[in-house]
Formats: sequence, structure tokens, C-alpha cells
Amino acid sequence: MTETHFIIDGKTLASVTTKFPLCIESFPQPYEVSIFSSEAEYQSLVLDADFILIDKNVANRYPPTTSDGTYVFTLAATEDNKSMTTVLSIIDAFIDQNISKGSKVVAIGGGIIQDLAACACGLFRRGQPFIYLPTTSLGQLDSCVGGKCAINTGKAKNIIGLFSAPKQVVIPVFMVRSMPLNEHRAGLSEMLRLCLTASWKAVHDYVSIFPCISDPSTLDLEAYTKALALSLSIKKAVVDYDEYERNVRKSMNYGHTFGHAIEKLANFSLPHGLGVLLGMHMANTFSYKSGFMARETYAGVTSPLKMTLTNVRLNSDHLCGLTSDEIIDQFRYDKKGDGTSVPLILINSPGNMFFHRYYFGHPSNVLADSIDSCLSEFLLWIT
Ligand SMILES: NC(=O)c1ccc[n+]([C@@H]2O[C@H](COP(=O)([O-])OP(=O)(O)OC[C@H]3O[C@@H](n4cnc5c(N)ncnc54)[C@H](O)[C@@H]3O)[C@@H](O)[C@H]2O)c1
Repeated sequence: MTETHFIIDGKTLASVTTKFPLCIESFPQPYEVSIFSSEAEYQSLVLDADFILIDKNVANRYPPTTSDGTYVFTLAATEDNKSMTTVLSIIDAFIDQNISKGSKVVAIGGGIIQDLAACACGLFRRGQPFIYLPTTSLGQLDSCVGGKCAINTGKAKNIIGLFSAPKQVVIPVFMVRSMPLNEHRAGLSEMLRLCLTASWKAVHDYVSIFPCISDPSTLDLEAYTKALALSLSIKKAVVDYDEYERNVRKSMNYGHTFGHAIEKLANFSLPHGLGVLLGMHMANTFSYKSGFMARETYAGVTSPLKMTLTNVRLNSDHLCGLTSDEIIDQFRYDKKGDGTSVPLILINSPGNMFFHRYYFGHPSNVLADSIDSCLSEFLLWIT
């Protein structure tokens, strides 16, 4: 058991990396996060479900064995499907199937299925309990804890949302083996973000576990379970402190203001977590060039970011030609902005985060230079 103390915007948090199950101190109801190592445990959980919402690809690879009374709602996990129309069709299916608070509703998939299930369950009768089984690396290492959900409209991504925590999270770890490499590294990037939030120790642990978990198809499940415990314990510390994002939880946006801007300008051709990785590099470079981060620290945090992209090859067509001006201009649409400024989440060093306000329309050469140089470096890392 390792206890870490870390500072976010002047507030000290404690994270204890424990074994599963973890208990998330959610309001009004705490929930437990546990793991399944075998397919048999997965089948036994879904067998007596009343309603299953499942990602189509996951249903093909890991078909749930169900009883006669189970209704299975299968859905393609696409951003187009992450809409109010789909939420309403899930709610209509709840009504048709006589789903009540006593029913067993299970959602199985990555972040898209989580967002849809949590939105539909949060709205249906002001709170339908559901169990969530995250199947992607990102879902398992990060998003399954925290109880946030959001869906898209035709005009904006993740613009409709609410807090809607599951009543239980069970992670079918074996499913990570079928993740595509780039998507898996996107999940690892989010884990690295959490480690950079917490401490040098967490970053060093990430670096030492990485070789055992870098390739999903041959990944060592024991090492991966340690990675899950480390990553989710840090997320737990943050959301236990500030579930409804009044202050320190904003730190989870580290890398995201830059990352979201790039994702959008690149037509979402980049997996979200890899956009966040590039965003963290930009935030760190800006911190270093502004004198907030020491040179050795900068070298120490850049190395695991680069390592996470080992053997990742991406089509860079949408990234080539992007300019810092365009990227900075996108900061106006950041959800954390207040109309005149946005907090850029920066670190002095792992375990020491602060919020630096960027005021729209105030050009900064240091910021622009940091963005431009990181974009060029990233293109070298991925091609
Ligand atoms: N609610 C939150 O807290 C939160 C946090 C981060 C991201 N998100 C949202 O999550 C979405 C991204 O989620 P994601 O990256 O988890 O993936 P996803 O749900 O978008 O799925 C990505 C792809 O992986 C496939 N897939 C799922 N499980 C698989 C498995 N075990 N093996 C092989 N393929 C599998 C899916 O069918 C899909 O094609 C975005 O819409 C993002 O906005 C939500």
C-alpha cells in the first residue's frame, strides 16, 4: 500500500493505491469498483440481467449468455449514435420492458456506451440504477470512475451532460486484449495523465509497468491489474475530494484544453487520449518556457509521454498545417471557460498542479511557440 500526497491548486490530496475492490465515496450513494479476470465471471453477472445495453463489437466478441427474461439492446459505438435520439430510444425500451428501480440494468462497452447508459439512466425516473462494465482501455483506466456523462448534438460534442454514477463498476480486464493498439495507448495516455497529477513515484511506476502492458494482445493481466489499481486510486482521490467539480476536479482537464482543440481541428481523426497526450506535452512545454518547470523536470516528464507512443503510427494529414493561432482560438469553446478566460491546467512537477488563467484575445508568444514546437515534435513521434 503506497500513500501519496499531491497538491492541486494549493489543496493537498491523499491517494492510497489499494487492491480491488475500490469504494468511490459518491453522493448520494457510494459505489464499488471491482474486477473480473475470467469470462466465466462475466457470463455469470450478465445471466440474470433484465436489460443489457451493449456495444455491437463487444457483443460480437464476447456474446453475453442470457436468460429468457433478458432484453439486449445492441448499439454501434459511434459518436453519431451518442445523441439524444439514442438516449430516448433506450428510455423507450426501458418503458417497453417494464424496467423499474428493482431491475438489473447492465451497460457493457467503452466511453460511448457509458455516456449513453448514464444519461438514459440518470434521466429515466430521475435515476435508474445500473451496473457498468467498461471494455476499452480508456473506460477501464479512467472514465469508469467519476460518474460524469455527456452526449453530442449536431453542433457540439459532449455538450449535454449530467452527473450520473453507476451503482457498481465491474471491470472485465480480459477484454482489453482485443483493443486496437492506438486506442489502447490512448487509454494509457489517460493513465499517465493521472500519474503526472499524483507524483514522481506514480510516473516511475507507470514507466516500469509500461513494457508489460504496452501491447494489448500480449499484455500481462497481473501487471495490467496493478496499472488499473494505480490509475483508478488517483482518480478516486480526486473525485472523492470534489465529485461535482467545484475546484480540484478541474485538474482532470490537464492536457484537455489543448487536446480538445486539436481533436476538433483534426476532425476527430486522433483518438481522444492521444490528443490529450499531445495536449499535456504542450502544457508542460508552456510551463517550462514560462519558468514554472525546471529543465530536468521537463526532460523527466517528456520521456514517458514519448514512450507511450512507441510503435504508434497515425495518419498525420489532419495535423500537418495546424497553426497555434487556430488552436488557441479553439480555447473559447472549452467547457471550463468563463466567457473571458480559460484555466490552463499546468504542473510544476508531477504531484504539483496549478491553474493558470489564459485570457482570450491576449496573444502570448510563449504559448504560441510551445504549441508550434510540440506539434512538430509529435508529428515526428507518430510517423
Ligand atoms: N463519461 C466519461 O467520463 C468519459 C470520459 C472520457 C471519455 N468519454 C467519452 O468516451 C468516448 C470514447 O470512449 P472509449 O475510448 O472508451 O471508446 P468507445 O466507446 O468510443 O469505443 C471505441 C471503439 O472500441 C470498440 N471496443 C470497445 N471495447 C472493445 C474491446 N474490448 N475490444 C475491441 N474493441 C472494443 C468499440 O466498438 C469502438 O469501435 C468519447 O465519446 C468520449 O467523449 C467519456
